[in-house]
Amino acid sequence: MSEEQRAEPYPQEQRAAVYRVIAERRDVRQGFRPDPVPDDVLRRVLAAAHQAPSVGFSQPWDFIVITERAQRERIAALARRNRDGYAAGLPGARSRAFGRLKVESILDTPVNIAVTCDATRGGRHTLGRHSQPDTAAFSSVLAVSNLWLAARAEGLGVGWVSFFDERELAAELGLPAHLDVIAYLCAGYVREFGPEPELQASGWARRRPVAWAVHAGQFGRRGLPGEEPVDALAEVTAAIRPLDRGAAAAARERQARMTKPPGSLGVLEDVAASLAGLAGECPAPLPEPAAVAIFAGDHGVHAQGVSPWPQEVTAQMVANFLAGGAVVNAFAAQAGAEVVVVDAGVAADLDPAPGLLPRKVARGTADFTRGPAMTREQAVTALTAGIEVARDLVAAGNRCLVTGDMGIANTTASAALICTFTGSSPVVVSGPGAGADAAARARKVEAIRQGLALHRPDPADPVGVLAAFGGYEHAALAGFILAGAALRVPVILDGVIAGAAALAAVAIAPDTIAACLAGHRSTEPGHAATLAYLKLRPLIDLDLRLGEGTGALLALPLVQSAARALRDVATFDSAGVSDKKA
Ligand SMILES: Cc1cc2nc3c(=O)[nH]c(=O)nc-3n(C[C@H](O)[C@H](O)[C@H](O)COP(=O)(O)O)c2cc1C
Repeated sequence: MSEEQRAEPYPQEQRAAVYRVIAERRDVRQGFRPDPVPDDVLRRVLAAAHQAPSVGFSQPWDFIVITERAQRERIAALARRNRDGYAAGLPGARSRAFGRLKVESILDTPVNIAVTCDATRGGRHTLGRHSQPDTAAFSSVLAVSNLWLAARAEGLGVGWVSFFDERELAAELGLPAHLDVIAYLCAGYVREFGPEPELQASGWARRRPVAWAVHAGQFGRRGLPGEEPVDALAEVTAAIRPLDRGAAAAARERQARMTKPPGSLGVLEDVAASLAGLAGECPAPLPEPAAVAIFAGDHGVHAQGVSPWPQEVTAQMVANFLAGGAVVNAFAAQAGAEVVVVDAGVAADLDPAPGLLPRKVARGTADFTRGPAMTREQAVTALTAGIEVARDLVAAGNRCLVTGDMGIANTTASAALICTFTGSSPVVVSGPGAGADAAARARKVEAIRQGLALHRPDPADPVGVLAAFGGYEHAALAGFILAGAALRVPVILDGVIAGAAALAAVAIAPDTIAACLAGHRSTEPGHAATLAYLKLRPLIDLDLRLGEGTGALLALPLVQSAARALRDVATFDSAGVSDKKA
């Protein structure tokens, strides 16, 4: 081969083969055939793994090939125990879906291969590893990747099982203490390779568009090379569409044929029709699983004495949500929904915790009676954070988004937003919030009056309005609602805080309303004004005024039942039931 040839791209068909094996590699867990894997095939696949790149060329991997049935049975028992522990911690809807998934095939495959990592191999001065010790493990993962691709080319299916206590598995494999298990792979010939990841086919999770993952120069400047960076807010706004009338009409038409008197499901028929219109298909996919995202933030206007609660309560309640001890956790558990907490702008530093998304824009807003609560740039950052939370939850397989919020003094910021967008007066929309007495309520009205006079907000400039009054949780919630609409996933709004955020979202993109369902009517007076302005009918009305997402979660089973009825209930013709005389 000449030097020139060595540097040339591969001929077209060879390139196509490389991209094909990358696209068609699958994690396979079912449909294995019992045929043995010939040793020469295994040797080729292992040699491919061994050609992986490695930090400082340290080649930290070893491959333990397991074929003996008794050993695989012991290993399968370890995985089962771990898997059961994982399943026990899942929210209801996920747990049901998980029960339908196959996540390991240790006993169904003739060969299992454990890939290990020796992070000490190569000595102290391994090039590159001195500054990033994890690169040893990364190198072993690349060996896995080579193995997986070569196996696909050989027609061998490979599944990666990570349901293990790593040290338990290491002991079973006789690993010395300085070796870690990186991957446990199950390999065998298969009947077919699925066209898409099994987790996508089953609706567990979806592939994110590549444009979301590519950034120009700095994180957040998303866009593919040669294309303009995409501003998430502009992209989401451009994607929002009105309800699909055809699908909504098909839902109405089906409802008229369902085995029940026409219209007898009342408002739930409207809900099901709007879900069909939103999805653009009839019946719409079930809004399950659902996730409630609790956006938390603190407010400078707290200094005006508008709340009886100290500001620290925001962070304390965030800790309570993460520990599972709040009302929202109880309601989410009952409804089978996942809870995530988003730090959009809590004044305190929060320790990392499972379920906490650290998206802090700043440590609380400024006092809007003195100046803007935040800069326009901060408002856009918070909006974008909310967009990304929604996108990630939907990519993770959620089909319904539920709004939650936490922020001492946030009914004051909400009231200011509601006054601006609906034209209501401060005294009408200022309520007791989390228990403000008459004096505190008067201070609330006064603070909003001052803010309105100071900022002279223009409802046609919703980002400016959010910047004027805040909070970070409102701006992030507005982004969350906008992204739900863009992704055509229903968003169940909680009370007055979500309502205020929805006003901003609708001001940014009016068709956002197509995705919004009002979970409930809060007793906070600003909420009634908001619902009237948005022309949303609350699904429940139980004198709630807690926030956190509680009212929306109570409405979740209603929304899901409405969708399920449209999907599952027989029609007069299909069930052989006589329709009433025309
Ligand atoms: C680090 C890692 C661990 C994994 N662990 C498991 C597992 O325990 N069980 C399982 O069924 N799949 C596991 N997988 C496979 C993924 O679910 C799979 O790669 C993903 O859904 C994408 O599908 P695809 O590989 O077919 O493209 C794992 C994959 C990786 C990269």
